[in-house]
Amino acid sequence: MLVVLKGSAQEVGQEAARIVAGAVRANPSIVLGLATGSTPLGMYEELVVLHRAGKLDFSKATSFNLDEYLGLAPNDPQSFHYFMHSNFFSHVNFAPKNIHIPDGAIRKDFSAHCESYELAIKNAGGIDLQVLGIGRNGHIGFNEPNSSLASRTRLKELTQETIEDNRRFFPPGADIPECAITMGIGTILDARRIVILATGKSKAAAVAKAIEGPISSSVSASALQLHPDVIFIIDDDASYALAQRDYYRRVLELTKKYTPEKLS
Ligand code: PGA
Repeated sequence: MLVVLKGSAQEVGQEAARIVAGAVRANPSIVLGLATGSTPLGMYEELVVLHRAGKLDFSKATSFNLDEYLGLAPNDPQSFHYFMHSNFFSHVNFAPKNIHIPDGAIRKDFSAHCESYELAIKNAGGIDLQVLGIGRNGHIGFNEPNSSLASRTRLKELTQETIEDNRRFFPPGADIPECAITMGIGTILDARRIVILATGKSKAAAVAKAIEGPISSSVSASALQLHPDVIFIIDDDASYALAQRDYYRRVLELTKKYTPEKLS
């Protein structure tokens, strides 16, 4: 696992965008795994800027989102469908048929839907590059603590902590969804390459457990230690609880000195 420490949350987004943009240019038919949440917003903004400048073309790319709330229709402003379209897809040029997000509006045949999502990923050739955030409890996607490390796309009940964390995205008094459809940890680990982003002190404990703790189903993100190609991009606040923090900070200083970062 490569840990990249950045000076600010903005730089975390820029670095993630640089990696995604490089991967799309290297393979225009790339299959991307995408995440929602506040952390990747900066990355999406940068990718939109690059696209608008004529420097990034998504016309041949395919995407699969990690998860969706159960019970929310795609046009619900709190749905991840809505999030993805308003923050990213409506500003870039993915072919609509190449965009995949689990359907939170289904009322039955949940297993069949989850299996067909897995099959669609497989038929697309598998995910080349998966973008992830991390929850305060170490979840990736909505794989809450004690999810099987081999899990596949399925329904998952959200923990009270996650429900409370999600409250900030909903109007006051609104019911917060208690269930989601999420790719499993096994699905995520099948991606060829993974970029995971974390910013802010509230993520510091989860980041330390994911990077330096034992591999355990009590911290879903620790399963990423099993994957051969993971980049963990974090800001200074999110690095707070890492035993190796000083080392990563020295690397950050050296990086600033010798390789001026440039988003092209
Ligand atoms: P956040 O969510 O980016 O909004 O903090 C991350 C996550 O829960 O995976």
